[in-house]
Amino acid sequence: MAMDQQLISLINKDLPQIAVIGSQSSGKSSVLENIVGRDFLPRGTGIVTRRPLILQLIHRNATSKPNGTDKDKPEEKSSNENNADEWGEFLHLPGQKFHDFSKIREEIVRDTEKMTGKNAGISPNPINLRIFSPHVLTLTLVDLPGLTKVPVGDQPRDIERQIKDMLVKYISKPNAIILAVTAANTDLANSDGLKLARDVDPDGTRTIGVLTKVDLMDQGTDVVDILAGRIIPLRLGYVPVVNRGQRDIDQSKSISSALENERNFFENHPSYASKAQYCGTPYLARKLNVILMHHIRATLPDIKSRIAQQLAKYSAELKALGGAMGETNPGSVVLSTITEFCSEFRTTIDGNTNDLSLNE
Ligand code: GDP
Ligand code: NA
Ligand code: MG
Repeated sequence: MAMDQQLISLINKDLPQIAVIGSQSSGKSSVLENIVGRDFLPRGTGIVTRRPLILQLIHRNATSKPNGTDKDKPEEKSSNENNADEWGEFLHLPGQKFHDFSKIREEIVRDTEKMTGKNAGISPNPINLRIFSPHVLTLTLVDLPGLTKVPVGDQPRDIERQIKDMLVKYISKPNAIILAVTAANTDLANSDGLKLARDVDPDGTRTIGVLTKVDLMDQGTDVVDILAGRIIPLRLGYVPVVNRGQRDIDQSKSISSALENERNFFENHPSYASKAQYCGTPYLARKLNVILMHHIRATLPDIKSRIAQQLAKYSAELKALGGAMGETNPGSVVLSTITEFCSEFRTTIDGNTNDLSLNE
């Protein structure tokens, strides 16, 4: 019902958002996709992400399986497989459910081109996508265009500043958690993402460094000094990951084999074998959960008081209209949503993160 929707979106606005920033083709979309565990984002060399994508993940319970099999892990599904329990919906296509995740990607590309043309144009006008699934935590992720310097195609002369302004809008909110992505085969001191993150989060309380393309580093080099905080220290530290390379994308390599490949890489690499549990996408996801939980705890009183204000306003409006509150007590909806939300995170955290320290 309308009021519940309003209240839920009010809560969502205050809850943490995770935004990825970094240079073009550093691997931002790949990182987000791996965190979600489904194939649906356009990725590739050059400027692929050309509008912000606000991705709301919404946890919902699975409907019961007809024949009792429960081999329903996201990594066991191909991207084309239809699934009644999981779907995406775009704000610009209300009521249309996308059960086929490759169709979600096609729609992102189609709507991007509709707004910005086919020739590398960009737009700050976001695409809003909601994904409902039993396999996700309720949270919001934002995929963003990469930082570039030289205009190509239809891009304006001041492309660098335009993209920067676009990113700052998302990462300067105090509830934004910044994934500052840097390719490990480039120099950390040149990282556009880290530089911008530092501008908006000088104390580094909400910036996580993500090092991609660790598999592409020159032989004999590694990210050990960066991880140890000896190059550019970050309070919340860095997580090295290995995403799918361009050839993997061209060959439609699945997320599950990509994650397996990533695990093998870190476990068998002489530089990382001893710290493999602190490497890779699963560790990044757990770290994010812990940080989100801290954020929620810290901001909960503020969220509660805003909701109380809003409720008072709605009740007053209802009274003015002469309506009764009826069966629904919106306050209880809010409370159960928050409780559900927090317990989701707690489950994940209690299950996985005993070895995790935030202030390493
Ligand atoms: P974005 O522009 O920052 O969103 O980057 P994408 O996720 O679109 O990736 C850009 C290109 O880098 C694609 O060709 C990816 O296959 C490749 N790529 C991203 N991460 C990695 C990685 O960890 N290892 C390898 N080998 N390639 C990667
Ligand atoms: Na790219
Ligand atoms: Mg991208």
